[in-house]
Amino acid sequence: MKLKISDIDDLGRGLAKDDGKIWFINKALLDEEVDVKVILDKKKYGLGKIHKILKASKERKCSFCPYSFFCDGCAFDITSYENSIKLKEDAINKMFKYENIIIPEFKIVKNPKTLGYRNKISLKVLDGQVGYYEEATHNFIAIKHCALVLEAINKVIEDFNLYYFKKGNLQIRSNDNNEILLIISTKEPVNISDDLYQKHKIVGVIINDEVVYNDSFFYERRNGLLYKVSYDAFFQVNAWISEKISQDIMNFITSDDIILDLYCGVGYFSLKMALKAKEVIGIEVLKNAVLDALKNKELNHLNNVNFLLGKVEDKIDKIAKKFTKVLVDPPRSGLDKKTINFLLAQEIPTIIYISCNPKTLKRDIKVLIEKYKILDLKGYDMFSYTKHVECVCILNLRYL
Ligand SMILES: C[S@@+](CC[C@H](N)C(=O)[O-])C[C@H]1O[C@@H](n2cnc3c(N)ncnc32)[C@H](O)[C@@H]1O
Repeated sequence: MKLKISDIDDLGRGLAKDDGKIWFINKALLDEEVDVKVILDKKKYGLGKIHKILKASKERKCSFCPYSFFCDGCAFDITSYENSIKLKEDAINKMFKYENIIIPEFKIVKNPKTLGYRNKISLKVLDGQVGYYEEATHNFIAIKHCALVLEAINKVIEDFNLYYFKKGNLQIRSNDNNEILLIISTKEPVNISDDLYQKHKIVGVIINDEVVYNDSFFYERRNGLLYKVSYDAFFQVNAWISEKISQDIMNFITSDDIILDLYCGVGYFSLKMALKAKEVIGIEVLKNAVLDALKNKELNHLNNVNFLLGKVEDKIDKIAKKFTKVLVDPPRSGLDKKTINFLLAQEIPTIIYISCNPKTLKRDIKVLIEKYKILDLKGYDMFSYTKHVECVCILNLRYL
């Protein structure tokens, strides 16, 4: 089927219209003419995969990745880094404009290390090989390398042996000291050979949530602080960009602030803000992350920060305190209704909204602007070459 790409959506896909139907084509650029293989064909829309490029865009470049054709992890590896940023900025500007939400021109802070920046990878294991399934298929693609992850992770992937285990999931995490945590879930026996331990700085192996080798965590230095991070706790994937976000946020914090940090993880932002603010309280649902956060408070000798275990939506209305700022950094699904209603009712003067999903950020801002105005909205290229963008929005109560 032949299509002409007329737009790029907020997920980095090329859009083409044909006979009243919208087609979404991965890795297609504006104005390109492509011959596509149909992957999904619904009444109003369809998904296609490029079979042949009939007319290529001037912006098209040869990918840095040998798996580019099969892997949809990157949406923009087929163009220059500069163009990938422009496409992401345009899509988000358009998204807000479409909803009539007035924002300052949306710009993205670039990543100084556009490859080899990610500290975590999640892979499938099949017949002893590591890889992933091609999108919308059962085709398993074995890999020996991913251009986005830290070198220490790639070295483990290269050495992954056919006999370690046959089938399951493998997550590899690394830190600023090239240490490695291997997190495996499988029903098969696992036999990791001694060479892997000798060649790599493996500090922990966790199988089906049980520690079978050494520790279940490592430490990482960031923001001028020391963080303990458990194998299952969230930790910002891109060191430079996450530090840049912390620095930028600190410009809004004052020594009088009493701050509520919702979805605080191991205390990444809470601890940094506690260096300047009067008091910080974090809420997080994952037990290991809260235990890490309490340990991190101790490691960094901070007495003005505390952490509560539980769901944000269950805990927020139980803290009797007058907060001056609230930082929210929810999962991709964004804020739930109860949390938004709490924020509107409490009228906390400033909301710092950190989001890894511009769509849910836009949805939540649309409700919050009933009482808040947007002071600043910026993007950060935390996930270079992929479709994802990290955003930070500063909202101030209108009467301020
Ligand atoms: C995007 S991460 C942000 C973590 C932290 N702000 C950081 O920068 O490391 C989202 C966090 O929210 C937690 N979480 C998810 N749903 C939650 C909920 N309903 N209540 C509290 N925490 C939740 C996750 O466990 C995760 O640690």
